[in-house]
Amino acid sequence: MRWRLKKKEPTSHLDAQKVAEQPGVDSVTNVSQEPIVMGISEHADDMERPQSDARSTGSGVEMALGERTNQDEAATNDSAGQPAGSQMVKEPEYEGPLLKVSGVERSFQTGGRKLDVLKGIHMELWPKQLVMLRGRSGSGKTTLMNIIGGLDQPSRGEVYFKERPIHAWSDEKRTRIRRKEIGFIFQTYALLPLLSAYENVELSLRMSGYPRSEWKSRVKHCLELVGLGKRMDHRPFEMSGGEQQRVAIAKAIAHRPSLILADEPTAELDSQMGAQIMAVFQDIIEAEHVTICMTTHDPTILEVADHVYQMVDGRFTETAIEDIQP
Ligand SMILES: Nc1ncnc2c1ncn2[C@@H]1O[C@H](COP(=O)(O)OP(=O)(O)OP(=O)(O)O)[C@@H](O)[C@H]1O
Ligand SMILES: [Mg+2]
Repeated sequence: MRWRLKKKEPTSHLDAQKVAEQPGVDSVTNVSQEPIVMGISEHADDMERPQSDARSTGSGVEMALGERTNQDEAATNDSAGQPAGSQMVKEPEYEGPLLKVSGVERSFQTGGRKLDVLKGIHMELWPKQLVMLRGRSGSGKTTLMNIIGGLDQPSRGEVYFKERPIHAWSDEKRTRIRRKEIGFIFQTYALLPLLSAYENVELSLRMSGYPRSEWKSRVKHCLELVGLGKRMDHRPFEMSGGEQQRVAIAKAIAHRPSLILADEPTAELDSQMGAQIMAVFQDIIEAEHVTICMTTHDPTILEVADHVYQMVDGRFTETAIEDIQP
């Protein structure tokens, strides 16, 4: 199966990049000052973050994914934050390396033993790239994604996001940059089941401080971009796995992040649906000017990557896409 990046005219950008992440419904109340859904708030975190992804890495993975927003939405004007609810200031498109990872190591202490999982990772992500991490189960892909996304911190080494040293930042500060500039997509979609596709995507915007007058057009635009313009009122259980994943993609891009991290986004899907997701990724890179970094076990989709990093036992055997093709 062969896909090629289809060139298409970029759609016009709304004003700016914003905060956002996988919010609990309580958090929505904090931001918008009006509760939209009552009675599910205590479960919202679980629904947003698949349980299997929610393990602790010792420095805030659970917090980061299920985090409440009181502090963050109160957070103010530093380089990573903007007052919630404020009008967004248009930022120029960033052209340097989006992410630079150097010498990253990550060890865990388990059962009195030290487990070295990442053993010196070097990588770069540039704007508008589709980059894949490939490797056997247990090789360290998710551990690295958590560090790239600021969900976890390395034991050693450095991670610069747009030239800012996020490896040295506090949980709180990393949370702010994450909400504003990074979107996450998970294997199991992580949608709120009681909300429609439209409401799931809108949730990101409510959290982000995105100008309210633009929510409707932005949600519609994102759902149309992923081919679900006619399914906006459907709830997740009324959709196929591929459709749910497309809602999750719309949700991840809604707040205009510059980086999307997708951990095995096609693993639950058959090959045809997986191909659809890859086509959607290609489209949103062109239309939204994001970079997508994803993990996969599927060798058939590597061909569409701009770059493939092959991970073996916590290290990259850096491999160009041509070298991986049969
Ligand atoms: N918080 C943790 N505490 C202890 N060990 C951990 C922790 N997180 C990850 N590990 C270990 O690190 C190794 C790499 O895990 P990781 O989830 O990054 O692999 P992966 O490449 O994503 O695998 P898969 O393809 O199955 O998702 C595994 O042996 C795992 O058990
Ligand atoms: Mg993994």
